[in-house]
Amino acid sequence: MAVIAVAGGSNGLGLTIVEALRARGKHEIIILSRKDNPELEKRLETRFVAVNYKDVESMQFVLEANDVDTVICTINSSTDLEPERNLIRAADRSCITRRIIPSIFAGFPYPIKYPDSNVVAKSKSEMIKEVQKTSLEYTVFYNGIFLDYYGSPHFKSHVPAWPMFVDISHESAAIPGSGNELIVFTHSSDIAEFTVRSLDLLEWPKESYVIGEKLSWNEFVKLAEDAKGSKFNIVYDSEADLKAGRVSQLPSYSEMYTASPGVEAGILLAGEWFAKAELDLKPTHALNDDFPEIKPMRVKRFLELSWKGH
Ligand SMILES: NC(=O)c1ccc[n+]([C@@H]2O[C@H](COP(=O)([O-])OP(=O)(O)OC[C@H]3O[C@@H](n4cnc5c(N)ncnc54)[C@H](OP(=O)(O)O)[C@@H]3O)[C@@H](O)[C@H]2O)c1
Repeated sequence: MAVIAVAGGSNGLGLTIVEALRARGKHEIIILSRKDNPELEKRLETRFVAVNYKDVESMQFVLEANDVDTVICTINSSTDLEPERNLIRAADRSCITRRIIPSIFAGFPYPIKYPDSNVVAKSKSEMIKEVQKTSLEYTVFYNGIFLDYYGSPHFKSHVPAWPMFVDISHESAAIPGSGNELIVFTHSSDIAEFTVRSLDLLEWPKESYVIGEKLSWNEFVKLAEDAKGSKFNIVYDSEADLKAGRVSQLPSYSEMYTASPGVEAGILLAGEWFAKAELDLKPTHALNDDFPEIKPMRVKRFLELSWKGH
């Protein structure tokens, strides 16, 4: 039994990983957080440790005092890199800690391929450079787009909805490219399961790929139409349109724009990547090959569970 610290495990993918770790029952878990959370601590029966991300030395102490073997970082903070950077440095200094998974979990290796494309790519690229500087064993996850984005409000997930390109609630789609380019869709619960199982590997590859299921947007929309029992209003944005800054709007976007100003530029950029089939991941090896017994959520089933009868 090793002690696994999940930084950012109070929400989103991190919380899903904590639940998967608990279900596996093989490791002791602590959640690193900016604050105490007695309610969640009680519900999860998992210890929270409040850390000061500004202070490397105090975090080193926390890692050593709690015998932390592996840190799984799921901090989501692309505008402030200090917390993750300091955590990586503390883990490197800790005489107990051997391994770290930085908070990448990206659709494809855009932090390597397009490091200057936007603030998120830049931050992830910086964190990859930071772990490379350490003597820790590390692996960076690439997992396609989170399927969770397309199930809300009916399919419960710790990851909130972010329905880029297909707005199932409003039965519309604004598809980048021809719609025939393949995309990896992976549910967060499968990413969590593979993350937890990868702890059993004696050696980590520098990159860990997780493939939920590959489908094109055209196939995805057809499955969504079948699940909803209706025809969607579909438009296409060519790569040239997207390059010229033209992206068709969907009803769901206004809420997303209000929640995160600047998101339109992110959708445009993502659209260009989808149109170029960047999310058609073709790794020579994926964690699916190591753990064939894990059967990732199928998109058809996910959409039926999320939308049939709604
Ligand atoms: N490939 C995809 O489609 C996709 C989709 C979504 C996310 N992701 C990636 O998955 C990872 C997790 O994302 P998520 O959406 O699950 O995260 P999230 O729920 O938004 O946040 C996770 C945790 O990060 C911590 N956090 C946030 N801001 C922080 C700050 N300034 N300093 C320190 N801690 C901070 C918070 O923990 P405390 O409040 O407890 O400190 C929070 O609970 C990220 O790397 C993200 O980019 C990928």
